[in-house]
Amino acid sequence: MAETGQKITEIVVALGERSYPIRIGDGILSGLGHALARLDSEKKLGLDRKIALISNPTVYALYGDTVLSSLEEAGFGVTVINIPDGEEYKNLLWVEFIYGELLKARLERGSCLVALGGGVVGDITGFAASTYMRGIRFVQVPTTLLAQVDSSVGGKTGVNHALGKNMIGAFWQPSMVWIDTSTLKTLPPAQFAAGMAEVIKYGVIRDKAFFECLEKDKDRIMGLDPGSLAHIIGRSCGLKAEVVSLDEREAGLRAILNYGHTVGHALETLTKYKKYLHGEAVAIGMCIEAELAEKKGLLKPGIHERIKTLVSSYGLPAEIPAGLIGEEEMFKAMLLDKKVKGGRIRMALPVDIGEARIETISDFRPPADQSADQSA
Ligand SMILES: NC(=O)c1ccc[n+]([C@@H]2O[C@H](COP(=O)([O-])OP(=O)(O)OC[C@H]3O[C@@H](n4cnc5c(N)ncnc54)[C@H](O)[C@@H]3O)[C@@H](O)[C@H]2O)c1
Repeated sequence: MAETGQKITEIVVALGERSYPIRIGDGILSGLGHALARLDSEKKLGLDRKIALISNPTVYALYGDTVLSSLEEAGFGVTVINIPDGEEYKNLLWVEFIYGELLKARLERGSCLVALGGGVVGDITGFAASTYMRGIRFVQVPTTLLAQVDSSVGGKTGVNHALGKNMIGAFWQPSMVWIDTSTLKTLPPAQFAAGMAEVIKYGVIRDKAFFECLEKDKDRIMGLDPGSLAHIIGRSCGLKAEVVSLDEREAGLRAILNYGHTVGHALETLTKYKKYLHGEAVAIGMCIEAELAEKKGLLKPGIHERIKTLVSSYGLPAEIPAGLIGEEEMFKAMLLDKKVKGGRIRMALPVDIGEARIETISDFRPPADQSADQSA
């Protein structure tokens, strides 16, 4: 239980001495300061009590005061840094701005950054933490569903470059992830649905019972029932934590988390990041990749339709509108992905609900078409 009295679910990301807790609860934002102070003394984090709270004006207006007073009440001296709201500000220019504010406030090696916001704030704060004074501690307080189930967990931090998304970055694990599910009440519905794409992904690649629960509990989840939210966020973080613990630097298994993302990224690139939210592109990607797995004989017939039905039921797009992008064009865009080696695409494909594996593919066609081509 936290000082706030609310029930808290804890999941540990097991990475030896870099292990850290993910704590999830409804209305726990005001318990952050004391929880961090306690973690500091229990795990001997060596915090010097100086904190920079990094956010954006949208999120800060909603939750900034609560987090600021919680940290101050627990004895931390806090500098607030707001960066503009938007993916276009996740770049080195704004990292430089953050460094400047940290230096002016005299944050040192024992100081800590707190990221309050969605994936953009989390990624840039984590990257600043990984490099400021050769690396200082940071805490994630994610406020979008996508950030709560995905970007705040696993230690990938980074920023965009004019020539590519997330091209500059570092693996840097937070000291704690503090998730207040009640912050989702103010999130626009499309952003909530986008986060659900990643939740569905975990069910498809790793947990059949969880997938079935998403089918059954849709109304409660969409109604933001606190118990259901704690369950889906906890299970998603647990599944991601398990994969990350087994393969922190994506040498093998971690690549299954990219299910839906190879097609999804290509779709985002081809539509210049304007038509779809990331989660929407991943939703379409999961449906197309499942169809591909079926065509290649890896997935039993009918399962791709079941995935499509679940994706659509959460208000997500399940296919590319007719005429928008052809298969050839899509395949060419996929070849530009940073995971491509020697012209062959390595992608995570489902082999059943709850199981995925990495396959190398060289086009979108079923095996029969390819052998016909080779004999011609
Ligand atoms: N590091 C990783 O492993 C990882 C994984 C997936 C995605 N990402 C990154 O995450 C980013 C996308 O994150 P996102 O989807 O959270 O987008 P985002 O951070 O842009 O947030 C979406 C919008 O919601 C607003 N918002 C946030 N919380 C709110 C709340 N509680 N109420 C009202 N509005 C709120 C934000 O201000 C923003 O306008 C991308 O940059 C992507 O590259 C990183």
